[in-house]
Parts: sequence; C-alpha cells; structure tokens
Amino acid sequence: MAYIAKIGPSILSSDLSRLGSECVRMMGCGADYLHLDVMDGHFVPNITFGHPMVECLRKTIGLEPFFDMHMMVSRPEQWVKPMAAAGANQYTFHLEATTNPGNLIKEIKESGMKVGLAIKPGTTVEELAPWANQIDMALVMTVEPGFGGQKFLEDMMPKVSWLRSQFPSLDIEVDGGVGPDTIHKCAEAGANMIVSGSAVIGSDDPRSVIALLRTVVSEAIQKRSLDR
Ligand code: DX5
Ligand code: ZN
Repeated sequence: MAYIAKIGPSILSSDLSRLGSECVRMMGCGADYLHLDVMDGHFVPNITFGHPMVECLRKTIGLEPFFDMHMMVSRPEQWVKPMAAAGANQYTFHLEATTNPGNLIKEIKESGMKVGLAIKPGTTVEELAPWANQIDMALVMTVEPGFGGQKFLEDMMPKVSWLRSQFPSLDIEVDGGVGPDTIHKCAEAGANMIVSGSAVIGSDDPRSVIALLRTVVSEAIQKRSLDR
C-alpha cells in the first residue's frame, strides 16, 4: 500500500485570534498535517483568511507542519503563486471553481506545491476521475463546504469506495463531520487523509481523538492489504 493514515485537524473551529498557538497545540497532540480552510465569500457563503495569514503562520510555527490549503474560492488560479510564496505545501482547489483544471494542476506543480482536487457533495466522482492520475490527493467533501460543525453525509462514501477501487495508491481525503462517530465509515470506504474540525478542536482530549482516528484508519488500510 502506497498510502498511510494521516490526520489533519481543521483549525476553522478553533479560537482564530490564537491561530498560531492552536496550530502548535494540534501538532503537539499528534496531528500529521494542518488543514487550512480558505473561504472567499463567493464560492461559499463565509469568509476566513488568505495568504497573508498563511505567511504569518509559517513564520510563527516554523517549516515543519504540512499546510494543506483547502481553497474554497471562486478563482483558484489567482492564489497559486501567493500561497506558494506564503509557505503552503498543498493547494487543494475545487473542481467546480475552474473551467481548466489541467492548466491549474500544472501551475500548482510548477509552483512547487502538491495538488489536491476537491469535489462538493453534488459533484460526481466520475467528473474528478479524468484528473486523478495527475493529482496528489482527492478530497471528497462530506458536508457542503462553508462551515464547521455540520452533519456528516454518509451517502458520499460510495464516491470514496469507487475512487479507492480505481486508484489504489491515491491519497483520498474526507472533510466535514468526521470524528469518532463517523470515522469507521470513512476508513472502510478507503479514505486515508482525515480532516476533523470540531471533533478534535472541541475535545477536552484532542490527542486521544487524533490517535483514535489514526488507529481506525490504519487498521482499515491493513485489512485491505491482507484482503488483496
Ligand atoms: C467546511 C470545511 C471543513 C470544516 C470541517 O467547509 O472545509 O474543513 O472545518 O469541520 P468539521 O469537522 O467540524 O465538520
Ligand atoms: Zn476543509
């Protein structure tokens, strides 16, 4: 198996006035990467932050944490270079937001970042498939993007299963409503990169929640490799 379990807290639901220390806290609790949600008020009905914040975070918390930028923006082409310069590691854009995914994938790679491709609940996985061999990660949204704390959409799991069957070594991320109550479904379907916002940030014991999520996913990966 080429892929491993990775847990990426979404800091959207943390105290945003203390973003730097919250990121450090999450890494200290065993996070594998940080999932940073960029919203522009157009692609989604909410606004968060952009590349200036990412640049400050990178300066404050150092080179090590991997920043997965979830770009919920209408013009993803516009922010590739600024995000790369700010210290982003992966640029995850929405298929719905661009008419030329191939060119955007190329630009992201040329900027030195990994490529993530996200689909909203209403977008079929067949629309993502033509790009799957050119990307580093596919993100199957398990809520409508825009807000933390929403209910997990279990009916997105067939998309994850299908992707896993077609692209056995692709990193597949799930995002939205994922926590101890829903992780088994994600793991069984074949997701290996797990975004969790409120379930981790809102917990009294984020370290245990992160460890639990990773254990469930690792066991499912191991089981799949034994079944082959
Ligand atoms: C929602 C964001 C998510 C969100 C997840 O649009 O993309 O990353 O922060 O938060 P929870 O895990 O609370 O659903
Ligand atoms: Zn997200």
